Amino acid sequence: MQHQLVLVIDFGGQYNQLIARRVRECNVYCEVKPYTVSVETVKQLNPIGIIFTGGPNSVYEDNSPKCSEEIFNLGIPILGICYGCQLMAQSLGGKVVPAINDRVREYGRTKTFYDNDCLLFKNIPASAISWMSHGDYMEKVPAGFKLVGSSEVCNNVAIADETRKFYGVQFHPEVNHTEYGSLMIKNFLYEVCRAAGDWTMSDYCRTSIQQIREKVKDGKVLLALSGGVDSSVAAALLAEAIGKQLTCVFVDHGLMRLNEGDEVEKAFSKWDINLIRKNEEERFLTALKGVTDPEKKRKIIGEQFIKVFEEVGKQIGSVDYLAQGTIYPDVIESGNGNAATIKSHHNVGGLPEYVDFKEIIEPLRMLFKDEVRQLGRELGLPDYLVNRQPFPGPGLGIRITGEVTKEKCDILRHADFIYRYELENSGISSQISQYFAVLTNTLSVGVMGDGRTYDYVLALRAVTTSDFMTADWARIPYDILDKVSNRIVNEVKGVNRIVYDITSKPPGTIEWE
Ligand code: XMP
Repeated sequence: MQHQLVLVIDFGGQYNQLIARRVRECNVYCEVKPYTVSVETVKQLNPIGIIFTGGPNSVYEDNSPKCSEEIFNLGIPILGICYGCQLMAQSLGGKVVPAINDRVREYGRTKTFYDNDCLLFKNIPASAISWMSHGDYMEKVPAGFKLVGSSEVCNNVAIADETRKFYGVQFHPEVNHTEYGSLMIKNFLYEVCRAAGDWTMSDYCRTSIQQIREKVKDGKVLLALSGGVDSSVAAALLAEAIGKQLTCVFVDHGLMRLNEGDEVEKAFSKWDINLIRKNEEERFLTALKGVTDPEKKRKIIGEQFIKVFEEVGKQIGSVDYLAQGTIYPDVIESGNGNAATIKSHHNVGGLPEYVDFKEIIEPLRMLFKDEVRQLGRELGLPDYLVNRQPFPGPGLGIRITGEVTKEKCDILRHADFIYRYELENSGISSQISQYFAVLTNTLSVGVMGDGRTYDYVLALRAVTTSDFMTADWARIPYDILDKVSNRIVNEVKGVNRIVYDITSKPPGTIEWE
C-alpha cells in the first residue's frame, strides 16, 4: 500500500529525528532527507507536506545549507522550524540578520502569544510556553506573510502565508518543552496538509510480510539474533513471512548478563524457525586476553562474532540473504556522514561486508525504535522482549574496564543481577531508561568482619533519556541505592565498594567504554 508522505528536509539540526517521530506519532509516514535533496527527488516522492528542520548555521553566511528554491514553487505546504523558518523567509524576499542584543536573541522556555485564527495554532491557548534557541532575527518578513506569533521580546516568532500554505516558527514545536508543540505539528499535518492518517503498524506489518515473501521466494535467510529488541522483532517478522527458510544464529559470547543466553534461547525456541545457538565463551575470552583498550576490545568482539557467523553460514550452505535489524536512526545518521566516531558500535549482524550474500534484507530500516516496539507487539512478541533496554553488542566486554576475564565477568553478572532485581522490585525501574553495573579496574581497601579486604570498586549506572543520544543520570532514591550497595557488598565476593555514576551525556557516554 502506498502511504502519504511528509518530507523532513534536514539542515543539520539536533532535533531532526524528533521531528520525524512527532510526525509519525500522528499516523503520517515521513522520511528525512538531507538539504541537498534534488527537486526531482522531491517531485518523485510527492509529499503532502515538507518540514524544514533547524540547524546550527546562519542563513546569511556564505556556504550555509540551502535547498533548491524550486521547492517553493511545487505547491506543497511547508513548515519551517528555526533555521528552516529563517531560510524560508530569506529565500522568499525577507531579511535575516544577527540578533544584536538580548531583545531579539532568545534561548530556553519563552512565553509566546499565538494568533488562533492561523490554522497552525488552531485550538491552542492564546499564550503558552515555547522552546527557543535562536541567535538570528527576521528583520523583514517576506511579502505575502503575516505575523502569527510573538513573544515578550520579539514580535515575529511565527509567520504564515496561508494562501501558499507556508508557515514558519522560530521556536521548536518538536521538543517537549514547547507546550502544545505536538498539536501544532498535528495541525500542520491535518489542517494544512489534509493528511489522511494512513500510517499504522498493522498495515506496515502486512505489507512487509508480503514484500519479504516476494523477494525471498524459496531462498534461505540468515539472521544474527542477539535477543535485543531490533533483532528480535526482525526475527519475528521474517519468521511470520518465511518460517523455516529463516535461520537465526545466536552467538553466546560469554559476555551476556546472568541467565541471558538461556532466556533468549527459550524465548525463540517456541517459534517455527531454525535457531542455532553457538556457545563461544572460550573463543571470545581467549581473543580478549590481555587487551585493555576499549576500542580494541570492541573490534576484537566484532571480528570474532563475524567469524562465528561465517562458519555457521558455510555449514548451512547456499544462503542467499543476510537479514539485519538496522533501524531508521542508523540510516539517517549514516546518510549525513558528518558525525564524529565516539565509539565503534558493534551491532550484532551489522557487519555485512565480510560475508558473501546475494542481498541484505533490512525490514526495520524505515522504523524508529518506538515503532519497532509497536511492530513487535503487533507480531505477538512478549512485553519483556519488546520493552527490553538496549544491551550493547559487545556486552559485558565493555562494562568491565581493563582486561576482561571469566572471573570478572562472573562478578559483574552477579552484581548486575542484584542491581537490576532491586530496581525492578522497587517500582522505580519504569522511570529509568537504562541501568546496569560496571566493574571498574580499581581495587580499594575495605573492612569485612574483623578483616581487611582489597577488592574491586563497582559502579552503578542509571540514566533517563528519550533517544540515547543525550541522557541525564537518574535520581534513584538513597534508600534504594543503600539496599543495592549492601546486598552487593555482602553477597558478591570480590566487590567491597560501590559508587554511583552521576555523569550525564554529554559529557559522559552511557556506557563506560
Ligand atoms: P553510549 O555509551 O554511546 O551508548 O552513550 C548509547 C546507547 O548505545 C548502546 N550501545 C551499543 N549498542 N552496540 C549496540 O548495539 C554497541 O556497540 C553499543 N555501544 C553502546 C548503549 O547501551 C546505549 O543504550
